[in-house]
Amino acid sequence: MLSSKLYTHGNGLFIAFFFMLALHANKSPTITTAHYTPIQSELEKSMARGAEIYTDYCIQCHLGKGEGVAGTYPPLASSNWLTPEKRDQAIAVVKYGQQGEIMVNGVTYNGIMSNLGLYDDEVADVMNYIMNNWGNTQKQMVTEAEVKAVKK
Ligand code: HEC
Repeated sequence: MLSSKLYTHGNGLFIAFFFMLALHANKSPTITTAHYTPIQSELEKSMARGAEIYTDYCIQCHLGKGEGVAGTYPPLASSNWLTPEKRDQAIAVVKYGQQGEIMVNGVTYNGIMSNLGLYDDEVADVMNYIMNNWGNTQKQMVTEAEVKAVKK
């Protein structure tokens, strides 16, 4: 008698468990479909694309934190080239390449950065990435039209 009573009781728990599971399963579609779409500004989207371009085309010389290689590859981190004063010149470097003597943060470099063959929109994206990272802040977004207008 006692054992059959326990058995029934156990079964009740078992059913209750499945009832809860069913309730839960019923709820989960609402949970999974209610995903968040973070509001990203145009600048943030451009920077995200720029990060990929940076990894593909720039990181091998300017390195992971834009630190560069002393005496050979100038830094992008806190670079005086990535300021409003040199905005057009910096865009021109990335658009056309750069060779000959240049001074970056007070240090003279005389190397070669070849023309990387990026499209204007890619130049804009990678500029937005490097100009808003590693100590650089230039919230005025670089646009494809702006890159297009920059001449050598
Ligand atoms: C093969 C190595 C190499 C690659 C790849 C390269 N650079 Fe450079 N970069 C240089 C060198 C060398 C200079 C300085 C050239 C000189 O001495 O005239 C330079 C200069 C610069 C400057 C101006 C100076 C400064 O440090 O702020 C910027 C901005 C820059 N590069 C950005 C980029 C970006 C963005 C990419 C990728 C799209 C890139 N570089 C890819 C070697 C490279």
